[in-house]
Amino acid sequence: MPKITIAIDGYSSCGKSTIAKALAQRLNYSYIDTGAMYRAVTLYALRNGLIDAKRNIDNEALIKALKKIKVDFKFNTQSKVSETFLNDENVEHDIRSMEVSDNVSKVSTIHEVREKMVALQREMGKNKGVILDGRDIGTNVFPNAELKLFMTADNEIRAQRRLDEYSSKGQYFTLEEVKLNLNKRDYEDTHRKENPLTKAKDAIVLDNTDLNKEQQLEFVLKLIADMQLTKDTVA
Ligand code: DC
Repeated sequence: MPKITIAIDGYSSCGKSTIAKALAQRLNYSYIDTGAMYRAVTLYALRNGLIDAKRNIDNEALIKALKKIKVDFKFNTQSKVSETFLNDENVEHDIRSMEVSDNVSKVSTIHEVREKMVALQREMGKNKGVILDGRDIGTNVFPNAELKLFMTADNEIRAQRRLDEYSSKGQYFTLEEVKLNLNKRDYEDTHRKENPLTKAKDAIVLDNTDLNKEQQLEFVLKLIADMQLTKDTVA
């Protein structure tokens, strides 16, 4: 089957990256974690004093600094996943901190930041055989993606999953703190002016509240197989 573009959008902590990574391995596709790109820009802003304790961003300085910010991914052959690099430093761990999570939605509302990230994403995905996850992939970055998924899951489950992820990395928060962060981000991501999170008309909803990783993978692989079947039947 010719390589396609797979766009996965959805709320925070819905397991988008888990299914995206599994699919990428199974299909031998590249995986682009677009949220990680906005997180890397946020980390740069935090490290360089461009965001204060009240979450005020020095937009002008950040926009000016954008030309000095290089974000890319390198495939780790041992862990078999792409890792995020900020100006050639592996920041895969640092971009997952609560401090970054607390500020990333706001950073991602800045037009110039989005413009730069979207251009990079389109460049990285131009040859197909790629899976991107984020908030505006199916609606804006690759509106012609052959397969679009919109992921969702029960709020409690999402918060618990994120809490477990933090704990496994030695970062401890209460469930309430995690829930607050997820709800705030969902609100900001769905209410921003530019390319807010919405379901693309042609996206297929995947609610994984009661599905494990294997069941989700099976669901998506079947969708891909059916697409192929439809194409063959039509042709
Ligand atoms: O997927 P994530 O939770 O790592 O994303 C972090 C933030 O980045 C998310 O809250 C909103 C922003 N984002 C975005 O605006 N557009 C994307 N395509 C991906 C993420």
